[in-house]
Amino acid sequence: MTPLLSQVLLQNRKPSRIARIDEYRKSGGYEALARVLKNLSPRDVSHQVGEANLRGRGGAGFPAGRKWASVSEKGPFPRYLVTNADEMEPGTFKDRVLIHADPHMLIEGMIIAAYAVSASKGFLFVRPSYESVASIMEREVKIAEEAGYLGKNILGSSFSFEIVVHRSGGRYICGESSAMLNAIEGKRPNPRHSPPRSTEAGLWGKPTVVNNPETLANVPHIIRNGAGWFKDLARSETGSGTKLYCVSGRVNRPGCFELPIGTPLSELIEEHAGNMVAGHDFKTCLPGGASTRFLPRDLYNVEMDFEPMIKAGNRLGTGSVIVFDQNTCLVDATLNMTEFFARESCGWCTPCREGFPYVRDLLRRIENGEGEEEYLPLIRTLCDEMTNSFCSFAPGGVSPVESLLEFFEDEVMEHIRKRKCPFKRSKQ
Ligand SMILES: Cc1cc2nc3c(=O)[nH]c(=O)nc-3n(C[C@H](O)[C@H](O)[C@H](O)COP(=O)(O)O)c2cc1C
Ligand code: SF4
Repeated sequence: MTPLLSQVLLQNRKPSRIARIDEYRKSGGYEALARVLKNLSPRDVSHQVGEANLRGRGGAGFPAGRKWASVSEKGPFPRYLVTNADEMEPGTFKDRVLIHADPHMLIEGMIIAAYAVSASKGFLFVRPSYESVASIMEREVKIAEEAGYLGKNILGSSFSFEIVVHRSGGRYICGESSAMLNAIEGKRPNPRHSPPRSTEAGLWGKPTVVNNPETLANVPHIIRNGAGWFKDLARSETGSGTKLYCVSGRVNRPGCFELPIGTPLSELIEEHAGNMVAGHDFKTCLPGGASTRFLPRDLYNVEMDFEPMIKAGNRLGTGSVIVFDQNTCLVDATLNMTEFFARESCGWCTPCREGFPYVRDLLRRIENGEGEEEYLPLIRTLCDEMTNSFCSFAPGGVSPVESLLEFFEDEVMEHIRKRKCPFKRSKQ
């Protein structure tokens, strides 16, 4: 197996315990914060993160430096930073691994990001089934306060910042950044209209920056080692940094792996995830969680980075690969995901609220041997309509369905012709 040369975010990961503040400090932790508060202006920090080409790791890949710089210096106060640890995207568990490995890396990243946008309060929004993440963070935030890294006049500077851990009510849509702001305000978590962007008018109408934990954990390293160092970590030409990839499905060693961004999918599966289980061949995967598209077999060597994935007609998403083998029925798998999206739709707009149950019912009939050929154009039309929904939940949610029909139409047709699921016998 190729050694993991670029352990940055998971450098203090141990199988049985989290890194405490002393261990984090021993590995250079909180040096970046001291340097920022002493030598850098907020704009310098955004600029350096922009130069490093740090793209958001929560799914959309938006450049973090550009987002921070879009908070107007003249904008109103107070300002907020929200860390999105909702992590309900099926197949994704990297933020849980990261926080369990080294919580202070995220805390330091949050403080530096808050400094860059002059935020005085930060929320860590946590999925309720991640109670261990919430309680670890509550404990470690207190320790950081006692050490002078949080609270009033951090390290003797004029900058003050506090972090509050907020437990989510537990719906997938709460991870959509504007719905999350409604949830924190105690409102129903429907996504908000944009404009205004949250960097202009977010929490309680004040400028608010939302970032993913993995995005923020990279920040101290960029400040300490420089933008050039961060760019050089990547394997792909357009990438920067490492990536926490999750792999699940029929592989020998499912898990979360930190690798240079742009590592080929084939290498991720064969070397790091221990290859396919004996007797099971790679058929396809969803490369970035359930709201990305099935990847055809001829793209098995694609570089797992934002731009190469777009060129391949797909999305990197959260970089969480769900692997399917030749014995897995993709109609059944897509039905399973569509059931999830139908359940999790917030119901705000008609195409999504009505579309997912309709597509789910058609897929269910096909899977049960009750499908008709005319369902295929109907499903395609429904998916087209659903991409015009109010937020990006629906275009993401129909991605497996659209790509099922694009790349695996034969498999769907076989269900219809045989009037049964052809995989039922070989299911294990
Ligand atoms: C339905 C839905 C769920 C989402 N869930 C998450 C999530 O759990 N964590 C996350 O960081 N981003 C999630 N996102 C993306 C966020 O809206 C937002 O782009 C992200 O938190 C910004 O952080 P980043 O720029 O650091 O990636 C979700 C988006 C949608 C549409
Ligand atoms: S697309 Fe779905 S999740 Fe998004 S606002 Fe409409 S109903 Fe809600």
